[in-house]
Amino acid sequence: MPVSVVDRYDRPLKSLRLSVTDRCNLRCKYCMPEQDYVWLPREDVLTYEEMATLTGYFTDLGVDRVRLTGGEPLLRRDLPRLIRLLLQNRRVTEIALTTNGILLAEQIEALYEAGLYRITISLDTLRPERFRQLTRRDEYARVMEGIESVVRAGFTGLKLDTVAIRGFNDDELVALIEFGKQVQAEVRFIEYMDVGGANEWSQEQVLSRAEMLTLLGRHYGVIEPMPERGAAPAQRYLLPDGTTFGIIPSTTTPFCATCDRSRVTADGMWYRCLYATTGTDLRTPLRTGASMDEMRALLRAGWEGRSDRGAEERKALERNGLRVGGLIGIEKLRENPHLEMHARGG
Ligand code: GTP
Ligand code: 5AD
Ligand code: SF4
Repeated sequence: MPVSVVDRYDRPLKSLRLSVTDRCNLRCKYCMPEQDYVWLPREDVLTYEEMATLTGYFTDLGVDRVRLTGGEPLLRRDLPRLIRLLLQNRRVTEIALTTNGILLAEQIEALYEAGLYRITISLDTLRPERFRQLTRRDEYARVMEGIESVVRAGFTGLKLDTVAIRGFNDDELVALIEFGKQVQAEVRFIEYMDVGGANEWSQEQVLSRAEMLTLLGRHYGVIEPMPERGAAPAQRYLLPDGTTFGIIPSTTTPFCATCDRSRVTADGMWYRCLYATTGTDLRTPLRTGASMDEMRALLRAGWEGRSDRGAEERKALERNGLRVGGLIGIEKLRENPHLEMHARGG
C-alpha cells in the first residue's frame, strides 16, 4: 500500500504532471512570446526509464494519476513507449496527455494501443488566421485533423482547453462550445494566467469567469453549475440542452486549497506549484545512486513541507495594485528556463 502524505495545508499528493520535453512546435503568445529561448541541456533530459523510476517513487507516496505534458509532448520520440513503461506500475490508474494536437493524428493509434486514457487538446480559436497570429505557426489544419482523429481512434472524454483572452477570442466562446459538441469534446475556458512565460500578460486581458458566464448566458439562457469534483481545477456547468463545459478560474478564483498536483520538468526538477520559483532537483540524486529510501524520503519531506498557494498569493497582490505584468521578468526567465510555463507543462 502506498503511504499517503499530506502537506502543511493537509493536501494529499495525487496527481503528477510529467513534462517530457520543453520544446514546442508553436509559439503561443500567452506562453512563449519571445523570439529565442534557452532550452534544457539534452544530456539533462531524463530517459523514459528514469521517468518511470521517478514516477514509482511518487506513486509510493499516493500519486495515482499521471499527465504527460510539454512543451509539446508529442515532439518527444516514441511517447507510447513511456506510456507502456508507466502502466507497468499498477498504482498508475490513469495516464492523460495535454497536447496542442499538431502531431496527434499520426500518433493516435499508437497512443491508444499503448493504453493512454484521456486527451486534452489546446484550442484557442476556430479561425485559421487568428490561430496563426496567436501561435505564430500555420498549423490550424493539422490541429483540426488531430482533434478529429481522437474519437475515431476510440478515445472518450476528450477535452478542449481554451485560454480566454479579452480582445482576442472573447467573441468565440459560443462557437467553441458548438464545435465541442460536433467533436464530442468538453470545452474548458481557462482564465489567462500571469505565470512564468506570460510576459505579455495584463489584467485587462483577463476574461473572468463571471464575464464568460454572462457572455454565454446571453446566448444559451440559464447556465447551471454542476457539483464540484474535488481537486479538479475546472468548475463544470450545464447548458439547457444538456451540453457541459468547464471554466478554470485560476486567476480570479484560485483553487489552491485543494491542489494535489506535482510537476516534474523534463530534466527532473520537481515543482509543487505552477507559480513556484524554486523546486527540488530529483535528477542528481537519481543519477548518482540515491537509494529508494533516500528518494522516497526526499519526496516525502518536499511534500510535507509544501505550503505553496501561488495563485492565491498572486491574487492577494491585487489589493495593493501590485498585480502588474507576468510573474517573472524576462531576465530571470532567461537565467532559469525552468521558470517558463513551457518547461513545467501548463
Ligand atoms: P484533469 O483534472 O485530469 O482534467 O487535468 P487538468 O484539468 O489539470 O488538465 P490540463 O492539463 O488540461 O489543465 C488545464 C489547465 O488548467 C492547465 O493548462 C492550466 O492552465 C490550468 N492548471 C492546471 N493545473 C493547474 C494548477 O496547479 N494551478 C493552476 N492555477 N492552474 C492549473
Ligand atoms: N494562462 C493560462 N493558461 C496557460 N497555458 C499556458 N500558458 C498559459 C497562461 N498564461 C496552458 C493552456 C495551454 C496549456 C498547454 O497550458 O491551457 O492549453
Ligand atoms: Fe502553446 Fe502549449 Fe506550446 Fe506553450 S507549450 S507554446 S501553450 S502549444
